[in-house]
Amino acid sequence: MKSLVTASDNITLGLGPKKCHIITFGCQMNEYDSQTMAQLLKDEYQPTAFIEEADLILINTCSIRQKAEHKLYSLLGRLKALKKKKPNLKIGVAGCVAQQLGNKLFEKMPHVDLVIGPQGLYKLPELLKALENGIKHVSETALASDFKIPFVNAPLPKSGQVRGFVTIMQGCDNFCTYCIVPYVRGRETSRPSNDILNEIESLIKQGVKDITLLGQNVNSYGKKGPHKDISFPKLLTLIDKNFGKDIRLRFTTSHPKDLSDELIDCFVELKSLCEHLHLPVQSGSDKILKAMNRHYKIEHYLEKVNRLRKICPEITITTDIIVGFPGESHDDFLRTLDLLKTVRFDQAFAFKYSERPGTAAEAFKNKIPEEIKSERLTTLLELQNQIGLEQYKKMETKTVKVLIESHQGKKLVGRTRGNHIVNLTGNEELVGRLLNVYIERACHHSLNGIIVH
Ligand code: SAH
Ligand code: SF4
Ligand code: F3S
Repeated sequence: MKSLVTASDNITLGLGPKKCHIITFGCQMNEYDSQTMAQLLKDEYQPTAFIEEADLILINTCSIRQKAEHKLYSLLGRLKALKKKKPNLKIGVAGCVAQQLGNKLFEKMPHVDLVIGPQGLYKLPELLKALENGIKHVSETALASDFKIPFVNAPLPKSGQVRGFVTIMQGCDNFCTYCIVPYVRGRETSRPSNDILNEIESLIKQGVKDITLLGQNVNSYGKKGPHKDISFPKLLTLIDKNFGKDIRLRFTTSHPKDLSDELIDCFVELKSLCEHLHLPVQSGSDKILKAMNRHYKIEHYLEKVNRLRKICPEITITTDIIVGFPGESHDDFLRTLDLLKTVRFDQAFAFKYSERPGTAAEAFKNKIPEEIKSERLTTLLELQNQIGLEQYKKMETKTVKVLIESHQGKKLVGRTRGNHIVNLTGNEELVGRLLNVYIERACHHSLNGIIVH
């Protein structure tokens, strides 16, 4: 999981007289929500990359681990001085920490003016009006207990963007015992397939060529919501039929328990669907998986991986791992290392377990001391770095199709269908082009290549 800070000038062009700076932490769904906020504000605000000249600063937050939450507090601490200098500056906190803390944020940080949860985004213009009318602190953090979550349609991509993201569902009903997402993002709700198709069409019209469908558990798309819809494999098939020749298609994240054979077959049957699957396993121990409420055993996970590799040998498989979950013995940890050796993931994102307020695991006994968590993380990363490099080295001397995404001077960055990042040299006009690239050398998380003419 990456945490990133995005200067709002990259988000979308606003036309309004005032200036707004949006900072985004957390996952791609937050990135998408930040684009939505910029879109909602565009009549009143234009984006600025310079925080000092903003009339409104919005921080879109993540609370997946304690560290992510702390980033908000240190940033708000730094913004206190700016607000003192510019008393008319408005500061808003959006996203998962906003949802988690609600009005308590005003007690902790009185210089915050606005708090808005992920489900309340569409009310942003209304809340800003209330602030202008002199109300001191405004907030919207009600979580719908039913499925009435409005999706704001069609956020614009960043200008000149080759990759685009489309949220296809909100919330999560899985309640993994360590995870805060079901509490801050609410109940799982699927977005109508027609809206998804329309948004994909508008992204393609703006030049986007690589589209990722987003959701916490995309495999259960279509099952829950006011409009029960087609299944996820059917949605992929429909997108491929309508737009397959124009785009590369990807999705994230999949829950192993819901990875059906029908979905696995899509990797062979649908031309636009790229050969990459992010399939978070979390642990190699059945005992820990049970305590995490993940609803699968390692045996079943391996069956799915084997089936995937049998029908699609070149597929890139990546995963997420948590080390030091309460009750994780040395033997449980060794099972996770064994799993890494058996599956040989191309990449694994590993995290130390972080206790989250209100989750079931908060009350679990046998918490693992911080030093042991750190030791396990180091051991795991050393092993995975070695395996990941060996996996990436298999790409050396191959010629592959690379879609060029960005440039900095003469340095170009592109992506393979298997989601490997490729660094090469060339002119900026090549951004957006699909090129044949010879892979010269593999590094830990990227490849170096040269364009083949
Ligand atoms: N919906 C996705 C992932 C969501 S969060 C899924 O089910 O796989 C991304 C990753 O953060 C998770 O896969 C998990 O590895 C990690 N994570 C979530 N909660 C965590 C916690 N409390 N401590 C440490 N890592 C956590
Ligand atoms: Fe969290 Fe589990 Fe839902 Fe993923 S599936 S968001 S880990 S509760
Ligand atoms: Fe973080 Fe919320 Fe995404 S907790 S990972 S920003 S859903």
